[in-house]
Amino acid sequence: MTMTMTEREQDNEQFQSYDWANRTMAVEGTVSPTTHQSRMARVYDKYFSTGFYHLRYPDANKHTLHFILSELQKLELGPKHILDFGCGNGRYLLPILKNTKNRFTAYDICETPLKLLSERLDIEDSRERVSIIHGGLEQLARHMGVKGKADLILLMFGVLSHVGDRDTRLQLLRRLRTFLDNDSSRIILSVPNRLRRFTRMNGCVSPAGKESGDITYRRSYKGTELTFFYHLYTPKTLAAELREAGLVVHRMCAESFFPECWVTGSPVVGVLDQAICRILPPKRGYGILAVVGPDKTSGE
Ligand SMILES: C[S@@+](CC[C@H](N)C(=O)[O-])C[C@H]1O[C@@H](n2cnc3c(N)ncnc32)[C@H](O)[C@@H]1O
Repeated sequence: MTMTMTEREQDNEQFQSYDWANRTMAVEGTVSPTTHQSRMARVYDKYFSTGFYHLRYPDANKHTLHFILSELQKLELGPKHILDFGCGNGRYLLPILKNTKNRFTAYDICETPLKLLSERLDIEDSRERVSIIHGGLEQLARHMGVKGKADLILLMFGVLSHVGDRDTRLQLLRRLRTFLDNDSSRIILSVPNRLRRFTRMNGCVSPAGKESGDITYRRSYKGTELTFFYHLYTPKTLAAELREAGLVVHRMCAESFFPECWVTGSPVVGVLDQAICRILPPKRGYGILAVVGPDKTSGE
């Protein structure tokens, strides 16, 4: 599917500052993290069911996929258990599944992309190698208890940024750390770079007393309005948050130089971007990509 000019025009992006206290929720107890999650799930339900997500991001980002595959090779030999947390429609899971013998747990709070993923599991043994989990963290924890811990956890393309306030994100990161099999296991994540994203917007920083970097982002597609919450990071704030959760950064780089939808929508831009990312410092990236592992010195 290719995006026509008309559709691009309809992809009318609007930005607004995020008034965390008045509009939402996981902060200050006005709306619980669970309600925040339900809202995010509803937004993503529209994003995926309209086909808009696939239209914008029809493929994996080549640089990111290569990065994940190279990290996988560093893990001990033998098939790995990969937890793709916030896997969406399997944009990364599917090419990794095709190119390796690993098994996957595909988890998301939104059911629609999981159905799309299920329909795309067309390789011979893929149904045996992929468990699809929809629901809350406790359901995922039960599943991990049965299927075993993960050698690698993926949180690709802003999943952590959607989770909510700092406490909620730290709780999640600490929980994910308990899902890692051992000290050599890794988490690969990517988040939007505050130094590059939404810089056009005045007041992107949340009001005094709230965390800076919190924004809402609105876009509409064929009359459907989508409003997202993001926490934007810099390389420094990302590393600090991970450290607080008992995780240490092993490698950090730019996820892309150009916007992700250009990179994944055009093979030429994808290849060019891959070359640029080899020399681009993380702070210049459109997104920040990091490999992290348990901090052995942490009391977490
Ligand atoms: C930008 S999409 C990324 C999807 C996929 N990882 C990719 O790279 O294409 C963000 C995904 O995170 C999921 N998500 C948002 N909040 C979540 C949460 N608290 N727990 C798990 N998944 C979440 C959304 O439903 C959505 O599928």
